[in-house]
Amino acid sequence: MKRRDFLLTAAGAGLAPVAGLLTPAQAASTALSLVAEPVTVQILPDGNPATDMLGFNGSSPGPLLRLKQGARQAIRFDNKIDQDSAVHWHGLRIDNAMDGVPGLTQAQVKPGHGFDYALTPPDAGTYWYHSHNRSWEQVARGLYGPIIVEEASPPDIDRDVVVMVDDWRLMETGGLAPGYDSMHDQAHQGRLGNYARALFDDDSTVQRGQRLRLRIINVATDRVFPVKLSGIEGRVVALDGMPLSEPRAIEEMLLAPAQRVDIIADVTSDAAVSVLAPLRDGDYVLGELKVEGKAKERRTSAIAPLPANSLGKPDLANSQDVLVKMEGGAMNPRIMQLNSIWGLGGRNDINQEPVLRIERGRSARLRLANETLFPHGIHLHGHHFFEMSADGALGDARDTSLVMPDQTLDVACVFDNPGKWLLHCHMLGHQAAGMKTWVEVI
Ligand code: C2O
Ligand code: CU
Repeated sequence: MKRRDFLLTAAGAGLAPVAGLLTPAQAASTALSLVAEPVTVQILPDGNPATDMLGFNGSSPGPLLRLKQGARQAIRFDNKIDQDSAVHWHGLRIDNAMDGVPGLTQAQVKPGHGFDYALTPPDAGTYWYHSHNRSWEQVARGLYGPIIVEEASPPDIDRDVVVMVDDWRLMETGGLAPGYDSMHDQAHQGRLGNYARALFDDDSTVQRGQRLRLRIINVATDRVFPVKLSGIEGRVVALDGMPLSEPRAIEEMLLAPAQRVDIIADVTSDAAVSVLAPLRDGDYVLGELKVEGKAKERRTSAIAPLPANSLGKPDLANSQDVLVKMEGGAMNPRIMQLNSIWGLGGRNDINQEPVLRIERGRSARLRLANETLFPHGIHLHGHHFFEMSADGALGDARDTSLVMPDQTLDVACVFDNPGKWLLHCHMLGHQAAGMKTWVEVI
């Protein structure tokens, strides 16, 4: 991707006129407005046809929402597309009624209608919002955007950059290919695109020696993105919004749909900071920030941990444990028994009993057992859980875990947020075809 490609996107999509709505100062007092509507975006490089999509406030991705930790923010959603919709705030541990899941937490928002959301995010970090109605179609068509919840005392950096990795299935005309409900796709890896790119919220040049915070979000509907960075040296400081107590070395990453990684790093290249997808035949450049000039002073300070969010530690001695099997998919005989392509925890729809009903404040251990031939990215709404190691130790806090074929991963969680919470595969084609259930916290 060349720099002007993104500028074209920004100009064509009208980011500038709405930017004023989204400054932190206004966010504290005024309701923000998100309008879902048809948009035209220059996804392909300059000189190729533009793509008719869906977006928020004239662009896809939608505008960056900057929220303050612990502060209430009202957001008015208006649906101006020709399908029902609703907005989910992925990873925010907010009130159940605001979670944006039609059929579980609210009614569908009909075309021409709206919904008033109000969010009080308890955790700082990197999150995102996306449609949660026919998400496998509406997210593929562009209905998503990034969220930053600012730390009360943010780290010392020069630039904060959101990097969304996505893929699109495009036709030669530049239009999105139809077939969102393809059973063949849903029984395999989902709807994979034929064109991939990293989208930056701001791709202006950086200087050698500057300290950057990169917030990488996999916004693809179904693709597990391998991501590698070049031109910087630094540390991984957070996963799925949650700070690591000890920042880690930056290695090659494998991001399930919806997973996030925050990195703080210094620019060491004279040419570019590159976001790469390492593929069998070499590194594919998803996007770059060009380097121009040199910062006056390079920081010598070590990259410190971000301030911790207050996430409850599960009580494993008194936990309620439940087996959550991933089943089905192509080449798997269980399909017939499930009466759907996929199943999760012996279920395939939210009108069935929840996979777990638990008293508020209690801990549970979910054994995520992948008995299929495909990887899955399992996401729990309204909570973060801890991935456990084989010896039972609590590892990283996440809201979405990548579980490989034949892998069993235990995750432990304090269910302290009352309500009805979806648990599903974030490969949205798998979710469409039955890989979903829910948890009730009473
Ligand atoms: Cu990112 Cu059920 O959502
Ligand atoms: Cu899946």
